[in-house]
Amino acid sequence: MSHEEPLTRAEMQSGLDEECAGIHQDSFRQRPQLDAPIGRTILSLDEQAKRAKLINWASNDYLGASGQIKQKNAGRAALRTWGTGSAAARLLAGGLSLHRRFEQRLATFLETEDALLCTTGYQANSAALVALMGDPEDVVILDRLAHASMYDGARLSAGTMLRFKHNDVADLEKQLKRTQGARRRLVCVESVYSMDGDEAPLQAIEALCDSYGALLYVDEAHAIGVFGPHGRGCCAELNIKPDILIGTNSKSFGSQGGYIAARQSVIDLIVNRGRSFIYSTAPAPAAIGAAIESLNMLREDAELGASLIQRCVEFRQALQAQGWQSVEGRSPIIPIIIGEEKPTLELSHELRQRGHFIPAIRPPTVPPGQCRLRISVSLAHKQSDLNKLLKSLDELKSFNA
Ligand SMILES: Cc1ncc(COP(=O)(O)O)c(C=O)c1O
Repeated sequence: MSHEEPLTRAEMQSGLDEECAGIHQDSFRQRPQLDAPIGRTILSLDEQAKRAKLINWASNDYLGASGQIKQKNAGRAALRTWGTGSAAARLLAGGLSLHRRFEQRLATFLETEDALLCTTGYQANSAALVALMGDPEDVVILDRLAHASMYDGARLSAGTMLRFKHNDVADLEKQLKRTQGARRRLVCVESVYSMDGDEAPLQAIEALCDSYGALLYVDEAHAIGVFGPHGRGCCAELNIKPDILIGTNSKSFGSQGGYIAARQSVIDLIVNRGRSFIYSTAPAPAAIGAAIESLNMLREDAELGASLIQRCVEFRQALQAQGWQSVEGRSPIIPIIIGEEKPTLELSHELRQRGHFIPAIRPPTVPPGQCRLRISVSLAHKQSDLNKLLKSLDELKSFNA
């Protein structure tokens, strides 16, 4: 300890005040106050409590499921039957047959032996990585741009964490060669990356897992519902069988709750060793009732994802024609990369003045110098919304570095 005298409680409190005051104005985060259901549009309250109706380009509800009558009715029915909360962890009094029904239907949908429902996708990653990486001899190799919940799960686990350059198969192979003596190796990727919207080279990664002896762990949070037959994800589209598949109800399902789909023994291991699953209250019934309805929606309509992808491809082309720097791809996550924080915040503000809600994405969510607007296109948008955004961006071309 560098202090000769122990700090008093008051000194520690002022240390917190100073640290908070030291956050640079450009990086300081505020909690938005949205004053109506989150859907195609939102009602935003500014600091003077003035309401503004804005088109919402920041939602992960890619299929517009959260506003659907069927999902709302299913949520209501579950709430009426089961009450407002689950009131305990899954392994205690919170384990409802409703939760199990969701898992069984999900496992059938994803064609895996079993599935495990968690309270959030963040929790699912944490539970899975802690359970699977139980020994310092275990190695988890993460794509550098993997979601924070995978990093945090890897850090909480007993295993050793390594990273490879984003989507760089040669760098992954280097890490696999370096770790040949490990007890267990897990290669962790997202199928669609949450901030860039690009896709992992899953076939090449699976081939490396096969040739070097590693388990394949794929977070399909942004792909389920959009890609693959009936929205079963990128792995299903490519006929890849990951050892662990992670997803969340909070995106295309328009609800809440995370999940792990895998072989029976992997699920049983996580049930027994995944601390964030074991020690947290089970998801609220209404959320799971609505999520089951979203599964029905995907089973019944095979075209939802394809029509969204078509819309996104056309929108990307229009952005590129205006000269904005984005990331190649076909997913509904379409970033406009600006670079520094200040102009990114200014562009977000200008778009807000023109009726669009697109918060600036800044470090630590993305690396320094990579600040961006993350546009998220949904089936809930009207074509006129997309046209309006393109018109506004055209007016703001001067922000385009
Ligand atoms: C790739 C990825 N995994 C996991 C999560 C966490 O999901 P949830 O919001 O359900 O906690 C997210 C959400 O932002 C994500 O983008």
